[in-house]
Amino acid sequence: MSEREQAQRRIAELSRELEEHNHRYYVLAAPTISDREFDRMLKELEALEHTWPEFASPNSPTQRVGGDITKDFPVVMHRYPMLSLSNSYSAEEVAAFVARVEKEIGRTTYVMELKYDGVAISLSYVNGELVRGVTRGDGEKGDDITNNVRTVRSIPLRLRGDFPPVVEARGEILFMRAQFDRLNEERAKDGEELYANPRNTAAGSLKQQDPKDVAKRGLDNFIYTLQGPDLPTTSHFENIRAAHRWGFKTPDPGRRFIERTDSVEGIMAFIAHWDKARHALEMDIDGVVVKVDDLRIQDELGTTAKSPRWAIAYKFQAEQAVTRLNEVTYQVGRTGAITPVANLEPVLLAGTTVKRASLHNADQIAKLDLHIGDQVQVEKGGEIIPKIVGVLVDQRETHAPPVVFPENCPECGTRLVRYDGEAQHYCPNEHACPPQIMGRIEHFVGRRMMAIDGLGAETVAELVNAGLIANVADLYDLTVDQLLGLGKGWGEKSANQVIAGIAASRVIPVEQVLFAIGIRHVGETVAKKIARAVGRLDRLMAMTREELMALDEVGGVIADSILDFFAAEGNRRIVERLRRHGLRMEVEAGSAGPVGDKLKGKTFVVSGVFKHYSRDGVKEAIERNGGKVSGSISSKTSYVLAGADMGPSKRVKAEELKVPVIDEDEFNRMIEG
Ligand code: IVH
Repeated sequence: MSEREQAQRRIAELSRELEEHNHRYYVLAAPTISDREFDRMLKELEALEHTWPEFASPNSPTQRVGGDITKDFPVVMHRYPMLSLSNSYSAEEVAAFVARVEKEIGRTTYVMELKYDGVAISLSYVNGELVRGVTRGDGEKGDDITNNVRTVRSIPLRLRGDFPPVVEARGEILFMRAQFDRLNEERAKDGEELYANPRNTAAGSLKQQDPKDVAKRGLDNFIYTLQGPDLPTTSHFENIRAAHRWGFKTPDPGRRFIERTDSVEGIMAFIAHWDKARHALEMDIDGVVVKVDDLRIQDELGTTAKSPRWAIAYKFQAEQAVTRLNEVTYQVGRTGAITPVANLEPVLLAGTTVKRASLHNADQIAKLDLHIGDQVQVEKGGEIIPKIVGVLVDQRETHAPPVVFPENCPECGTRLVRYDGEAQHYCPNEHACPPQIMGRIEHFVGRRMMAIDGLGAETVAELVNAGLIANVADLYDLTVDQLLGLGKGWGEKSANQVIAGIAASRVIPVEQVLFAIGIRHVGETVAKKIARAVGRLDRLMAMTREELMALDEVGGVIADSILDFFAAEGNRRIVERLRRHGLRMEVEAGSAGPVGDKLKGKTFVVSGVFKHYSRDGVKEAIERNGGKVSGSISSKTSYVLAGADMGPSKRVKAEELKVPVIDEDEFNRMIEG
């Protein structure tokens, strides 16, 4: 067998095995190999597909960690419209639905399901291959987000078993609560604003342009219906079971996620069960759905313009509780934004004890006319932090003091400002207000910004308090000796690690640098867009308001924020120092051609996975420095640049031809030194 045939066969084998393990892990929750073994196989597959791109399928397991970037999601028609459900809020309304159905067609069987609180998705399979994932959109047509859908691990890329040649599975993409909490913990660590609720975050995640970003979020899904010309049975319930056999994640009857009944009492019992049990579920549901089981009867009943006559949703009441407002405290964020927080007498609400509620801003406080000691109504909607929705004014004590929004920063005493058109107050003392200093540095070193290992919130606070750093540029002047001088807790190893981590961040792309420096309103996505459109930070610094507003995604608020940031002498100085420290100040993709000739005349073969570069990024880095990239090792190859998990065959070949193999650090020294 030729090397090529061998590769093709191995790619097929690895793909099959990886999908099988993926299914066991994410659908059945019963893995049979370790994560490490899984990663090893995935890396092997990645390397093979890299060498033999002609064998890489769009449904390869490697696409689960992110395929091609989509700029604009194409709009496509749904083969069958995606209807919505009519809602009901009481037992009477559900009973009336059953009566309506039975008047028309007599007694029948109903399926009861959970109403998942996520984002509807339609998944088309042809010959068992996922060909398209489309959002609900307006019901007639939606956005084609196939590449993003492929990153949802519990959605099969290839079906198994006795599936029909053409089938559409519909379901809900959502976050499990634990995963959502993990995401927010990370954001808290990075000093970023928390995501409000799982549903909106799921919707936002699916609209990311880079599937790699979607993959990192860890979305999940449940299938709730099948559509197609040749479904296995005429029972909805049985079809869902079939979908499970084909590899879909479907509701588990053993946990009462789906059940059949033929009486109103049966439906009421299911609703009563989940009204209580929902709080302990691993995901959010906002009700239950009742559907006629028999597809022929469904057809007979038909639909109205918007919703089927054969189904109804029962929505749970949002839970409320009444408790005492003890105090309002004010938090200062990294951008100086002041967030009022209501401190409450602890109260049990939807299964958790609530002690705090967000108050958003001064207007909110005024609107509620809050007084200290008020009995307030708190509600837990989809939001993580409950909100105050009302005040029991008639229970207010006569001399209760009104809540007054402070005029000065609670941390540094500076007079607060409120910008035109914004609801939030800010502390303008950017460079001396302690939570702002620390917040900015914490943000800067975060995983999605400069990704500096070993620098958490505590260490940053320690360094600021010791007077070693007061801004992000100071990080690059730190020395091992200074850290050792801090004494307790610092050793050669940890000090060296931190300094090495800081040094390594110099190769982080400018897109992330722009995000990291923390311009108000310039988040990850906006930073990426701006950096790519403008190319260089110094150009951005010189742009006028009109020029900024002409950029994609930049409106007046962002433009002003950028202008304000660079108008501040202190910020300009910091950026200048970062430049002198060697941080990237322009985008990699060489619009301006090579920027250096350190690698002139050198040919590289690149293999494996890198810490600080994407696959394309490393090639761009070589070319920008005047080098060439080649796909296979020959006597003309100057270096093999090896990342983690380089394929063994390449290593052997390099040794045979005596081509030096270098790693990422060595490569960085070559282009920096
Ligand atoms: S059936 C024609 N079943 O609720 C009915 N929908 O308002 C099609 N949803 O957009 C939907 N859980 O995203 C159905 N078990 C479930 C559901 C469910 C959640 C969502 C779905 C749909 C919306 C309908």
